[in-house]
Amino acid sequence: MLINGKEISKQIKEDIKKEVELLKEEGKRIPCLAVILIGEDPASQVYVRNKIRACEFVGMKSMTISKDASFTQEELLALIDSLNKNEEVDGILVQLPVPDHIDEQAIIEAIDPIKDVDGFHPSNVAKLVLNEDGLVPCTPQGMMCMLDAINYDLDGKEVVVVGRSNIVGKPVSLLCLHRNATVTIAHSHTGNLRDVTKRADVLIAAIGKPKFFDSSYVKEGAVVLDVGMNRDENNKLCGDVDFDDVVDKVQAITPVPGGVGPMTIALLMSNTLKSYKAR
Ligand code: GUN
Repeated sequence: MLINGKEISKQIKEDIKKEVELLKEEGKRIPCLAVILIGEDPASQVYVRNKIRACEFVGMKSMTISKDASFTQEELLALIDSLNKNEEVDGILVQLPVPDHIDEQAIIEAIDPIKDVDGFHPSNVAKLVLNEDGLVPCTPQGMMCMLDAINYDLDGKEVVVVGRSNIVGKPVSLLCLHRNATVTIAHSHTGNLRDVTKRADVLIAAIGKPKFFDSSYVKEGAVVLDVGMNRDENNKLCGDVDFDDVVDKVQAITPVPGGVGPMTIALLMSNTLKSYKAR
């Protein structure tokens, strides 16, 4: 079974669109997302454009603030401060990565946690660890929605997450843990990776290596969520999973493109609406 992220994300965005239309009918203020892009990284430019398009689709306001790579940390902190204070702005997102002369963590911590639609601020991270209500990173939330879409119950299941980033690996591990899965986080220093991933009822691939996981890494009947967004030898988009080799062995799998990627953007809209309601 293919888990169609394009379709599932469309449904989420349609639901949000209806909520925003209702706000408009009631004459209320419209939610607004501010996106900051520093530098000219082509991939980041595409991601930001897609986020703005999603805002247009659901009827939210958006602000794109693009600065060249020489923008200083002090200038960026001042910009974030002004957006924190701006009553019209509900969500603030700084597209990562930022140039090397900017301290990423300092930027994340400058964003008002209530407007932190990425869920990267330490106070939102703490809430996730404690399983308290807060803003949760979009990609991990999107993956939970995909499991919900196929009615997959994580309770008692073995989940193996390969990748330990703050954006994906760590938060998705916590979300699975909160659903009573037995969670293993594997990474570049894990010995016998194949032995670990072969135990997985749910394999979450987030290592950023094109087609790394072939069928020898995957248990028969597993569910595979592929977070990878890479280019293969023919410059074609592909995931961390060798889809063609794995597809006949699994219960369900997410394609790349059209899998986890679109979910991230839908959940960003959801987080922006959540920030709006919380304010
Ligand atoms: N760069 C890659 N993924 C993300 C994300 O989820 N949020 C932000 N802000 N930047 C990213």
